[in-house]
Amino acid sequence: MKKAEKNAPALPGVVLLAAGLGKRMRSSLPKVMQEIAGKPLIFHVLSQIKEVNKNIPIALVVGYGREKVETYLKSEEALSDLDLTLIVQDEQKGTGHAARCAVESDWGRQRVAEGSSILVLPGDLPLLRPELIQRMLEPLKKLEKVRVLACELSDPTGYGRIVRSSATQEVIKIVEEKDASEKQKRIKEVGTSIYLFESQFLQSSVKKLAPNNAQGEYYLTDLILMASQSSKGSARVTSVLWSEERDLRGVNDPWELSIAREIFNERLIQFWAKKGVQFLKSNTVHLDVEVALSENVVIYPGVVLTGRTEIAQGVTLGAHVVLSNVRVGEGSTIKTGTVAENAQVGSKVSIGPYAHLRPESNVGDRCKIGNFVELKKTQVQENTSIAHLSYLGDAQVGKNVNIGCGFVTCNYDGREIQGQRKHQTIIEDDVFLGSACQAVAPVRIGQGAYVGSGSTITENVEPHALAIARARQVNKPGYAEKIRAKRNKK
Ligand code: UD1
Ligand code: CA
Repeated sequence: MKKAEKNAPALPGVVLLAAGLGKRMRSSLPKVMQEIAGKPLIFHVLSQIKEVNKNIPIALVVGYGREKVETYLKSEEALSDLDLTLIVQDEQKGTGHAARCAVESDWGRQRVAEGSSILVLPGDLPLLRPELIQRMLEPLKKLEKVRVLACELSDPTGYGRIVRSSATQEVIKIVEEKDASEKQKRIKEVGTSIYLFESQFLQSSVKKLAPNNAQGEYYLTDLILMASQSSKGSARVTSVLWSEERDLRGVNDPWELSIAREIFNERLIQFWAKKGVQFLKSNTVHLDVEVALSENVVIYPGVVLTGRTEIAQGVTLGAHVVLSNVRVGEGSTIKTGTVAENAQVGSKVSIGPYAHLRPESNVGDRCKIGNFVELKKTQVQENTSIAHLSYLGDAQVGKNVNIGCGFVTCNYDGREIQGQRKHQTIIEDDVFLGSACQAVAPVRIGQGAYVGSGSTITENVEPHALAIARARQVNKPGYAEKIRAKRNKK
């Protein structure tokens, strides 16, 4: 195995630039940690690389807020199998300096020794496509020193402009917006900060960069002029023109972040719609990248699905349903305005409208959880109905239970019992609770018991018993007239 590897050409390396301050974001978060579809920008770029080949050696240049980036990467399971090396750029002196930090590290020296090419990617292009990376990774030709990914933008403001020779059309240099002449600013073809370098050229020329420009930074773009000047007329710099400008939108400020979020969301919606999900008004729905949907799911306007939410076949999500890390089983209906977080819902369940499932709640198959019902740390087994206006916290509810309107678990009475501040209510199978009951926890209502309406249950109820815990009604004949007469006298 080792021998075969020796003869195979080394994989190109990727240098991912993610050390920048992101000043224009005006946020304390490092720019690459800004989120799109529930994941940081850096996740999106790394997952595109992973889709091309998970064995590509990647040098991630970190600097500003690097602890946040490192902590995140350690916790991200989906990226744990990447060949990732962190390179620290202590001071953010520009993209050229960031690349230099990578090439002059052990990681970079190894790439040069292997004679592999190096793809440079910025960390702020979350809309990249694997096909684009694949195209850029094709082997360099003999004399090629650098391949530039170019794109024509309808509005090129802020991007480096590509200056070509009028005679040969070959790329001569890239001029940054701030250093560009009026004539150059009219050029619509821009550099995208994606380049494939011949590693030796990269290693020797990053040393020659100087911060002689409007921003006083070491520009990676200056390497293009160095390459094009290195020898005349021999195609040292080539370019790939990418026609889909939406794939290359950078995220530099909150407005660009918001545009990137929209584009990404639209892609997710399109992906799921092609897999059989119906959206009634797709541009009002938000999906995170880890959300998993199924065929025959119908999604009404204003639905927000985040985290690892999983929706099984045949589920309908009504208008303005908000689910975060929620699993919903086959054929269930979640009605208008229902909010759920870290919860599980079985199959053929009906929930809402306006129900609230708080963390660690679990609703079994064929249950009905109706309007204005709130569950917290509550397990409900199958075929149970809690149809109206109830609060259940820290409760275990069995199967075939009927809970009438307005039930409340009084799970907190301000004291601690054996270190617990919240107390359990257990309602066993086949219990029937009349309307407007309360259970003062800790308390257990035994299997098949019956609880009369308006009861405040403070003691355990044994199985199959009838519990009534309310004052008996007294009717006094004719007494209403007496009261009225008294009032009229006054
Ligand atoms: C850069 C290019 C520009 C191109 C544009 C495309 C330069 C000088 N300009 O401009 O030609 O049109 O991208 O999107 O290269 N970074 C570091 N260390 C630093 C500075 C930046 O790691 O010291 C990282 C940033 O985190 C970011 C990337 O490099 O991920 C690009 O930096 P940014 O400041 O966004 O460059 P642009 O101004 O967009
Ligand atoms: Ca940028």
